Amino acid sequence: MTSKITVKAPSSTANLGPGFDVFGLAVDAFFDEITLTKKKNGISIITEDDIPTNPENNTAGLVVKNMIEKFKIKDGIEIKIKKGVPAGFGMGSSAASAAATVIAFDKMYDLKLNENTLVEFAGYGEKASAGSVHYDNVAASVLGGFVIVRTNPLNVIKIKAPMNLRMCIAVPKLEVPKKKTKVSRGVIPKKVSLIDSIANLSNAAAIVVGFMKKDPKLIGDSIKDVIVEPARQHMIPGFAKVKENALKAGAFGVTISGAGPSVIAFSKSSADLKKISLAMSRGFASANTKCQTVICKPSKGAIVIKK
Ligand code: HSE
Repeated sequence: MTSKITVKAPSSTANLGPGFDVFGLAVDAFFDEITLTKKKNGISIITEDDIPTNPENNTAGLVVKNMIEKFKIKDGIEIKIKKGVPAGFGMGSSAASAAATVIAFDKMYDLKLNENTLVEFAGYGEKASAGSVHYDNVAASVLGGFVIVRTNPLNVIKIKAPMNLRMCIAVPKLEVPKKKTKVSRGVIPKKVSLIDSIANLSNAAAIVVGFMKKDPKLIGDSIKDVIVEPARQHMIPGFAKVKENALKAGAFGVTISGAGPSVIAFSKSSADLKKISLAMSRGFASANTKCQTVICKPSKGAIVIKK
């Protein structure tokens, strides 16, 4: 057992088009770092970032509080948070903090929790910012690679991502609402037609096969969502142009990253990824919106970086 540990966890993209609340992929675009240090009593948070420092309202704080209670831990814990994942942009920011905290706590107390339990504890923390629990981002951030989330009971299936899969992500410089995920979930239709559900199911199934066969083209070609993307795209200025430009520049598939407003294009390492990124920036520029672009690979998930 150790008295101080630092874990870093990656950003993630949820949904991948037709896999709403079910698919997640860890991406090495951004990272959060969490350091847990044992102390005499209480939970305290130190950070230089603009996030709540009351443990009750903080993702990492809630994870630690819950785990201390569940495992009847007598120590107090200081949580140091270094945010790297932009919050509110569909890159799994709160999930990354939750994932790093769960892995740090598990290692610190040598709990050896199984994968589903780790994801469940991380999901509890995500509730602090998202308001409801979806395990797509946390599962990807905890376990790495591509994940399929089944619920009731929670059962996460993990598939290693192809080594040559690449993503171009455009993060627009926008003011995002405080409860963005709640807002962007509010615009989704409550009922869907059978024909739309068939279209999404067939593409979702093809994405899974794409990951199993390690085939970036099959993955990208199947990133087609006729249900959630059409309902949300009006919230992203220039979305249609960003998508069209990226596809013209050679991307296999383009969609909203998680609940947005970041847009993600899927491609492979041999493609002209700079051209795709530039095309996406131009799409946002057409709607007078600046963006940051990142070219990234699938990530292996949360890892201990210091003990
Ligand atoms: N699947 C979720 C959504 C991801 O798209 O709303 C955000 O937590």
